[in-house]
Amino acid sequence: MIKPEFWSIPGSALSANRLAEKKAALKQRLTDIATRFSDLRFATSLAAEDMVITDAIAKSKANIRLFTLATGRLHQETLEMTQTTENHYRISIAKAYPEDSDIQEFIDQYGMNGFYDGEEAKKACCGARKIKPLNAALLGADAWLTGQRREQSTTRVELNFEEHDDARGIAKFNPLFDWTESDIWAYIKQENVPIHPLHLKGYPSIGCEPCTRPVKQGEDIRAGRWWWLQSDSKECGLHVNK
Ligand code: ADX
Ligand code: SF4
Repeated sequence: MIKPEFWSIPGSALSANRLAEKKAALKQRLTDIATRFSDLRFATSLAAEDMVITDAIAKSKANIRLFTLATGRLHQETLEMTQTTENHYRISIAKAYPEDSDIQEFIDQYGMNGFYDGEEAKKACCGARKIKPLNAALLGADAWLTGQRREQSTTRVELNFEEHDDARGIAKFNPLFDWTESDIWAYIKQENVPIHPLHLKGYPSIGCEPCTRPVKQGEDIRAGRWWWLQSDSKECGLHVNK
């Protein structure tokens, strides 16, 4: 039972019309992207936004492959959620694993949980466990999709639907860039989308287990990510463009 002082799933405050418009626009966005690109891949963390996109991909039958960054430090609940999602939609989600040698190098230099000691070690850990596997997962892709939203963070306020990922030389899409938190949860409720169990335990945003904690009511929804760092460091580099 979660204590009321923690974040909890927002009730739906959305008119039926607005939700219908959002759903139609999302479907159109996915169909448009799939018409323009032949090898499209969607990065899912299994958190709420990504479940909305997964549901919309499954229902629109857009030709988009799914993958997840299996960092080796995810919550057990995230691993179970991957399986639940695969079973629910009868899809397969590719797992992008880090290289053993990169993990060993990190541990030798910083220690297993060295990321608590500073920004440099955190960058190195995310580099080995997320960025390098992301690069490998996107080899050969024409474009990729993410579940980022403008509202999520001060670092995302200028996010657009379509970007160019300079680091990988391919297009990148954020089909929920203009969705609010209420939009997300209204969609999930109406479409009976499966949700990550940690959303029921005070987690609005879910990353690796040692770097994510629940947030209090009224706190920033990303306050539980790398909480020991300053707010401008609260990105892992997945969405840095250079
Ligand atoms: S992060 O950069 O701080 O970790 P966040 O958790 O907000 O990102 O997620 C933003 C988007 O990045 C997700 O919607 C998803 O597209 C992608 N993403 C984040 N974590 C993963 C993961 N473990 N596997 C695949 N994609 C991920
Ligand atoms: Fe490492 Fe934490 Fe980054 Fe996961 S989120 S890759 S455990 S620093």
